[in-house]
Amino acid sequence: MNVKNRIILAMDLMDLDQAISVTEQVSDYIDTIKIGYPLALSQGLSCFSKFKENFSFNIIADFKVADIPPTNEKITRVTLDAGADAIIVHGMVGDDSARACQEVAENRGKEIILLTEMSHPGAEKFIKPLSEDIARMGVELGITNYVAPSTRLDRLEKIRKLVGDDSFIISPGVGTQGGDPKETLKYADAIIVGRSIYNAKEPENAVMEILDGIK
Ligand code: XMP
Repeated sequence: MNVKNRIILAMDLMDLDQAISVTEQVSDYIDTIKIGYPLALSQGLSCFSKFKENFSFNIIADFKVADIPPTNEKITRVTLDAGADAIIVHGMVGDDSARACQEVAENRGKEIILLTEMSHPGAEKFIKPLSEDIARMGVELGITNYVAPSTRLDRLEKIRKLVGDDSFIISPGVGTQGGDPKETLKYADAIIVGRSIYNAKEPENAVMEILDGIK
């Protein structure tokens, strides 16, 4: 996975025109966008193709897929066929569920990204104790893309060690949730940034500030 300037825009605005307008303002600096439930449920999966029509961006569907294998297979198929290039999949539901998504993606020359540990405080309770095992499972499955938190750098560093330097880690929690872009990029390949960019008065300036900070 290649991410321009190591910044992924998390586009969680729920109005498509507004989402496209903000994305336009930062499109000189960004080529990868993460679209999750807020926009996809408000506007439908056609928002993927609308983004593809407007921008030559990579699209990551942040659907945190977490179901039984046959359902995971269907979710992944419909999402990737709607235009997403990659889909985020929960690791906590086990290897058969992750493999179902992996097979769909591989058949299409697309990718899955395995979620190890989440960035919010509540993740400490149940997901954090499991995240190292989830990362090990991902390695056993041959998965090369991971999500790990910028809000707990010690955990991000640990997950980097487990998945190896050849794996690609994307890291949410930067900015509004408190994660530091430069520190995060010591261990992650790209940061995921949402509200600090799309809620900024001048989104382009917000991106440029982040870029200055990670030089
Ligand atoms: P903000 O506005 O906090 O947005 O910059 C962060 C984006 O990332 C998503 N998010 C996560 N996605 N694993 C994920 O796969 C996580 O641990 C995680 N934490 C935050 C969030 O939904 C938003 O789109």
